[in-house]
Amino acid sequence: MLSTLFLPVVLCLIFPVLFLFFINSLRTFKNSPCPPGPQGLPIIGNLHQLDNSILYLQLWQLSKKYGPIFSLQFGLRPAIVISSPKLAKEILKIHDLVFSGRPKLCGQQKLSYNGSEIAFSSYNEYWREIRKICVVHIFSSKRVSTFSSIRKFEVQQMIKRISGHASSAGVTNLSELLLSFSSTVMCRLAFGRRYEEEGSEKSRFHELLKELQAMMGSFFISDYIPFMGWVDKLRGLHARLDRNFKDFDRFYQDVIEEHMDPNRERADQQDMVDVLLQLKNDRSLSIDITFDHIKGVLMNILAAGTDTTAATLVWTMTALVRNPRVMKKVQEEIRNLGGKKYFLDEDDIQKLSYLKAVIKEALRLYPPGPLLVPRESNEDCIISGYRVPAKAIVIVNAWVIHRDPEAWKNPEEFYPERFLDCAIDFHGQDFELIPFGSGRRICPGIAMAVVTLELVLANLLRSFDWELPQGMVKEDIDLEVLPGITQHKKNHLRLCAKTRTNI
Ligand code: HEM
Repeated sequence: MLSTLFLPVVLCLIFPVLFLFFINSLRTFKNSPCPPGPQGLPIIGNLHQLDNSILYLQLWQLSKKYGPIFSLQFGLRPAIVISSPKLAKEILKIHDLVFSGRPKLCGQQKLSYNGSEIAFSSYNEYWREIRKICVVHIFSSKRVSTFSSIRKFEVQQMIKRISGHASSAGVTNLSELLLSFSSTVMCRLAFGRRYEEEGSEKSRFHELLKELQAMMGSFFISDYIPFMGWVDKLRGLHARLDRNFKDFDRFYQDVIEEHMDPNRERADQQDMVDVLLQLKNDRSLSIDITFDHIKGVLMNILAAGTDTTAATLVWTMTALVRNPRVMKKVQEEIRNLGGKKYFLDEDDIQKLSYLKAVIKEALRLYPPGPLLVPRESNEDCIISGYRVPAKAIVIVNAWVIHRDPEAWKNPEEFYPERFLDCAIDFHGQDFELIPFGSGRRICPGIAMAVVTLELVLANLLRSFDWELPQGMVKEDIDLEVLPGITQHKKNHLRLCAKTRTNI
């Protein structure tokens, strides 16, 4: 008798408490102010005040005026901008679940097969499953290490090319070389093919990839003012997007068919298409993987992995030639370890603590994504006493956070020593350093990116001394950036490689 009464009594007590809590939080939300921000115009909001190509700098200026959380109006959509490590932690850790969505933007949705992949999918059951599957089967450290022979081969090829320039006293365009290296490695990992060597395929693929990046970062007015979608049509944006989508779709389709051909010559190791096709046939998975899912994931790997890795390599080399003290010190570390070895392997590199600090410092000062991939709030939430409504676009300005004077001493200085004997890392737990983001949406490609960065830099710095072309001084190496979602160096980095004679 007592036990039958127990449950109704508990429910009667709990329900009013929960109800009061709900009403109270609703009232708190309604009574909380919106974050401060510049006044916008009707309908377009602040869009007329913003320039996509220098957005992170404009948002930095605005954060100086309005503080580490401020609001903007992107057409009809509310947006908030976060510019301090403390608030980044609120968004990316404390309220991670609320802010794990991604806004649906026209270009990204189309090219991602309507979010049938990891990076641009909304936060939902499908995303959780496909991300889990890819983290285990594609991005795991075991899979990353099975690709080590590909990385080694491609770094050696690159060194041969640079040696050719060095012996003819030529100048090496590191921007071009590193982008070509990065896309070749990604293609080999993903498709098992080296599009570099294949004449017409090379230009087709590189042009496609460039256009994909451009379309991903394009501003579609319909994303913010839906009834003005006709402007995008008039500007020819939809036609351009459709063309790029169809070209890529055909490209992925060819690659998939090639892999499904029973007469295909098997390579020693599986590439990512092999793994994804195998998963497609795996009935024990919680979702049925379709060809669109496979194509979406391939797009992620190409779009998220190629430019970011190349840009980081270029910025690190740029920082080193501008800082000869650091260049000398890192080369000494590498050369002391390498001794007379012709090539430093991934195992050797684990001991290079100063090189690791150099990479961290380059990712701090020149994150390839100065603004993290935008998030979207799934529900109303209060951040730092301000109300953030559901469906708001949330931008985390990593560029400003990485220069926060409260977190960093002399933040503008390239000083890798700050990371020696210091536990701050970029795996998403230290909110003053978030080049790969944090929380549920953190970059799953960190292991793959870091091993590539270390291998390339260790061997470029071991094999060659790097000098400025004749007539140039280090101050001529500028830091101007190209507009785009990945921050590339605008003026190509051209250096003279001198082969070391004492090895
Ligand atoms: C230096 C290189 C790289 C940098 C700086 C970088 C940075 C980032 C950042 C900032 C995000 C957004 C994280 C967030 O929202 O919190 C991201 C997401 C992502 N990255 Fe990377 N990334 C790099 C390399 C790679 C590589 C090599 C791959 C794959 C081969 C990759 C795959 C992805 C994917 C799939 C996502 C989407 C994750 C999701 O939305 O759940 N990235 N990356």
